[in-house]
Amino acid sequence: MGADPVPVATVLAQLDPSTGAPKEAGREFTLRGVVGARLVLPDSKTVAFVLNGGEPALMVFAASPTPMADLLPRNEVTLKGKLGAGPLGGGLELADGTVSLLATNKAFGNSEPRGAGFMADATSLAGRYVQITNVTFAGPKFDASGAVRVRSLDGAEATVRVGKAAAGREVPAGAQDVFGFVLKTTDGWQVVAARSLTVERREMLNLATKHTCITCHNPDMKVVGPAYREVAAKYRDDSEASGKLIAQMRTGGSGKWGTVPMLPFDGKIPTQEMQRLADWILGYRWDAIFAD
Ligand code: HEC
Repeated sequence: MGADPVPVATVLAQLDPSTGAPKEAGREFTLRGVVGARLVLPDSKTVAFVLNGGEPALMVFAASPTPMADLLPRNEVTLKGKLGAGPLGGGLELADGTVSLLATNKAFGNSEPRGAGFMADATSLAGRYVQITNVTFAGPKFDASGAVRVRSLDGAEATVRVGKAAAGREVPAGAQDVFGFVLKTTDGWQVVAARSLTVERREMLNLATKHTCITCHNPDMKVVGPAYREVAAKYRDDSEASGKLIAQMRTGGSGKWGTVPMLPFDGKIPTQEMQRLADWILGYRWDAIFAD
C-alpha cells in the first residue's frame, strides 16, 4: 500500500517559502494530518488545508470535489499526492482514491486573534490558522468571484476567500470573527475562510448556559443533542429555519436526530431570547457553506 505517511511539515519543506512553488514538481508523498478547511472554488476546483497541531498547513487540491469528499474540517486523514501548482498556489495534487478517513472531530490548533491590518504583509503567518477579529463583510451579498472584503473597526481591510456555495447569499450580519488559513495568492495575501462566527457568541453561550441548553448541546460536537453546527448545516438553505428552531425550543420533541427527546421550554424563555438563540445557532451554517 505504498510508503508510510509523513507529517505535513515534511511536505511543506519541499515548497519554496517565498513563492510557495514546489522545489521538485511531481514528487510523491503520502501524508497524515487533520483537515482545517475545504473550499470548492467558483471554477469547481477544490482545495483543502491539512495540518498537524498548530503548525502551518499544506494545500491539497483536485480538479473536482469528488476525490476530496472526506476532506472535511476536523477529519483526520491519510492521503497521497504529488507536488504541483494548484489553483491558489503550490501544494499537493491529490491522487484519486487515496484518502483514508482515520477519525472525525479532531482539533487542529488554535487561532491567534488579529485585526485585518496584518494582511498587508502576512509573510510570517503563511499557512497559519488565524482569526481576524471584529470585522464586517462588504455586502449585501457574496458575488460569484469567491473573494470578499472584510473591514475592521479601525478601517483596515482584508480579502477573504469563500466557497462557491456562498455566491448570491447575504453576507453574515453584524460583527464577525473570521477564521481561516493565510495564503499568498496572485492577488496578494488572503485568508481562506474556514468559518465566520458572530462576535456575540460568548454572550450567547452564557445565555444558552443559563437556559441549560449547554448541558445537552455543544456548538461543535454531538452530546445528548446534536452539535449546533450540524443543526445549522441541516437548515442552511431553509428560509424558515429560524421559526423551526423556535418551535423546537417551545415544544421540544424527538425523532429528528435520534430517539432521545428534548424537553419543551415554552413559557421558560422569552420569545426574544429564543429568537437570539436561533440566530446564533444558525450562524454556524457558514461552516457548511464554506466547506461545501
Ligand atoms: C435534556 C437535553 C436537552 C436540552 C436541555 C436542550 N436540548 Fe435541544 N435537543 C436535545 C435533543 C435530544 C435533540 C434532538 C431531538 C430530535 O431528535 O428531534 C435536540 C434538538 C435541538 C435542536 C434541533 C432541532 C431541529 O429541528 O433539528 C435545536 C435547535 C435545539 N435542540 C436547541 C436547543 C436549545 C436552544 C436549548 C436550550 C434552550 C436546548 N436545545 C436544550 C436535547 C436537549
